[in-house]
Amino acid sequence: MPVKIHINSPHVHYTDSHIEAEYVYQTTTAHREGDHITVTPHNTQMTFMTESHVPRLGVMLVGWGGNNGSTVTAAVLANKLQLTWRTKTGLKKANYYGSLLQSSTVCLGSGPQGEVNIPFCDLLPMVHPDDIVFDGWDISSLDLGRAMERAEVLDWALQEQLRPHMSRMKPRKSIYNPDFIAANQESRADNVLSGSTAQQMEQIRADIRDFRSCSGVDKVIVLWTANTERFCDVTPGLNDTADNLLAAIQAGAEVSPSTLFAVASILEGCAFINGSPQNTFVPGAVDLAVQRKVFIGGDDFKSGQTKIKSVLVDFLVSAGIKPTSIVSYNHLGNNDGKNLSAPQQFRSKEISKSNVVDDVVQSNPVLYRPGEKPDHCVVIKYVPFVGDSKRAMDEYTSEIMMGGTNTIALHNTCEDSLLASPIILDLVLLTELCQRVSVRVQGEDEQPQSFHSVLALLAFLCKAPLVPPGAPVVNAFFRQRACIENIMRACLGLPPQNHMLLEHKLQ
Ligand code: NAI
Repeated sequence: MPVKIHINSPHVHYTDSHIEAEYVYQTTTAHREGDHITVTPHNTQMTFMTESHVPRLGVMLVGWGGNNGSTVTAAVLANKLQLTWRTKTGLKKANYYGSLLQSSTVCLGSGPQGEVNIPFCDLLPMVHPDDIVFDGWDISSLDLGRAMERAEVLDWALQEQLRPHMSRMKPRKSIYNPDFIAANQESRADNVLSGSTAQQMEQIRADIRDFRSCSGVDKVIVLWTANTERFCDVTPGLNDTADNLLAAIQAGAEVSPSTLFAVASILEGCAFINGSPQNTFVPGAVDLAVQRKVFIGGDDFKSGQTKIKSVLVDFLVSAGIKPTSIVSYNHLGNNDGKNLSAPQQFRSKEISKSNVVDDVVQSNPVLYRPGEKPDHCVVIKYVPFVGDSKRAMDEYTSEIMMGGTNTIALHNTCEDSLLASPIILDLVLLTELCQRVSVRVQGEDEQPQSFHSVLALLAFLCKAPLVPPGAPVVNAFFRQRACIENIMRACLGLPPQNHMLLEHKLQ
């Protein structure tokens, strides 16, 4: 049972429809002149308004029949049905481990019983993952029961219980352009749309409307968990503005399937999240989302090796140690690995994995000269035998005091889709929550504003976070987590978590 939180403050009001919280946002600006820095604190008065009615949420997955798509659907069903199954190590029970919202906690404060920690998801009214209704598209026609079997992710005893439910789900026909994914995917493309680019995009829009009306959901979020595509060129006149992109689609110019899905979703007013590394969000797609005030987020789920990197490099640099070389090898045997064995698709992943330490490195001018970076190498190989159990091996070499060298070697067996599935849930549930939050800023025109269409709050869950133009990219894991926690606390009129514990440190 979710706990009920009541904020005991004259600055927080509960109305029939909203939680309204008056909040002082404290920031500092710093101005440097030679070796003199002037720092000025600022207070901005804000009111956070969170709609408390939780809608019925539909999620449409592009790549529904893939390892992630079938695993996340199965996991939600298994939780909803409270399934248990036996393995050689005993009885297992469905859970949401790996989900920030369902399985990690936040501290509300301390009292006579000590610290009070609650699940993240109980902070604010949120959709429960058990209540998500799934639908989606795949270029492969296998029903979800057979797709789950093909994925080889879940224990057989669990699959047997899920199959009667899963085999009733069939992916809708999708947009297939063999030029964008590896040639080795062609054999599974037996469920594809025909017609012009514009007609295919219209069909995707019609599918979204059809799902919304047949399932009775209040809102739909679309998420790309299909194969990694190659990068597409950003070409002035073609995909640089919303108008040019829409005209290019009508003219049948080359537009990637993922961008077509993004445009279709935005035109239907549905948030679109990209879980793969390619540049789906060409400037024209971002422009369209901003114009239509629709959320977009991405890129590339941060599930295994990169997640560790965004913790470890942050730890080293913030401890004053200087990483000088980071070498990451992966081998994996699932269909994602097969697709990434083609050079252009690997290149998309390599780019997405490479920039993850940049902000951490740039934040420390004691260790790094301007422009200096550690050597950073990423290798991915396809080894069918290991299936979905991706191996990630990393070597971090750092310079320590007086010319010393510190080397850390890691071996990580990832069970890729079981790590990515809870991230998919967090992405859609956080996006849905953000759609219900608005903020009034004192001194501006005082009209409630929503978050920027480029939903940077999702950065914690993404390898290559998409941020509004000109905004800083934060990759450091605990800064990203604190951002989500503190914004959710602001919605309740609570100050940021500061970990000072002064009440225990003074005499
Ligand atoms: P997968 O290959 O098992 O699934 C992808 C599915 O997409 C396949 O069923 C394929 O038939 C389908 N597909 C390909 N093009 C399509 C299109 N145009 N329209 C509709 N369906 C299409 O791969 P998996 O393991 O599920 O991963 C999915 C994506 O998520 C990949 O791009 C991967 O790089 C990305 N990712 C996965 C992570 C993980 O830990 N599993 C982490 C980060 C990113």
